[in-house]
Amino acid sequence: MSVTVRPVTDSVGAEILGVDLARLSDNDFTAVEWAWTEHSMILLRGQTLRDDDLLAFSRRFGELDPPPNQERGRISPPGYPDIYVVSNVLDAKGEPIGALGAGEAVWHTDMSYLDTPPDASMLYALEIPPAGGNTWFCGMQAACAALPDDLRRRIEGRRIKHDGTYNSGGYLRKGVTPTDDPMAAPGAWHPAILRHPNGRPTLYLGRRRNSYVEGYDRAESDALLEALWAHVTEPRFVYEHAWRLGDLVMWDNRSTMHRRDPFDGAARRVMHRTQIKGSARPVAFAA
Ligand code: OGA
Ligand code: MN
Repeated sequence: MSVTVRPVTDSVGAEILGVDLARLSDNDFTAVEWAWTEHSMILLRGQTLRDDDLLAFSRRFGELDPPPNQERGRISPPGYPDIYVVSNVLDAKGEPIGALGAGEAVWHTDMSYLDTPPDASMLYALEIPPAGGNTWFCGMQAACAALPDDLRRRIEGRRIKHDGTYNSGGYLRKGVTPTDDPMAAPGAWHPAILRHPNGRPTLYLGRRRNSYVEGYDRAESDALLEALWAHVTEPRFVYEHAWRLGDLVMWDNRSTMHRRDPFDGAARRVMHRTQIKGSARPVAFAA
């Protein structure tokens, strides 16, 4: 098999062709891993994966992280504690089988409220709605490289507080006290500009809600964050993914953010997801 890597934008993402993830040689795995490091997000279409295949592919990148605590806790298919279900579908008792419902999931990176967030996450499409539910990615290395000087100066050497109260669907995480005060909120502090293991600087914003830049008062921090968020979500840094059945998308959680469009709640969307445990705490670019 010959592996082809085709970038989907100049800023983030590449489609990989010529690969069957259920039968992946060591050489082809190396090519896939390289594409992921280089492009921060990879797309492989037309895959046929059982949960065991998804787990086996995921584990080639490292140890897996258990699912995040979401609105209903941690939900996995029976017997698969390392698989996390993103879905609006209801079970026989009328309870969701997964997380995030059918609404918008706002821009975020996964679990940055932990001291050591996962290095990567991947989603495999099992059922998709006829319209909506597209997933968007932005390239935080490209956005960092193009950061206007005044914005760079205002965040250089500073840390940002990342919130663990709400998930990207706007739901309160199970067992967490609601708050709109970044200082009272559970979460973690991370450098605003990280050194990615590939050596490049990357902006690390996490999520907007309850975020706070150290060394400013709340209003100054909010104004600065608004300017940063407007910059990183400019169309030139963004890829919009329209799902097809059998798509597998994997993203580098340090150098991308993602969001999801809402879709008709009467339609079904079922994604199975894994995530790779963080190999190290995020470190500042200019230490
Ligand atoms: C996730 C996530 C978005 C989507 O799985 O971390 O944000 O498109 N999913 O389902
Ligand atoms: Mn996410």
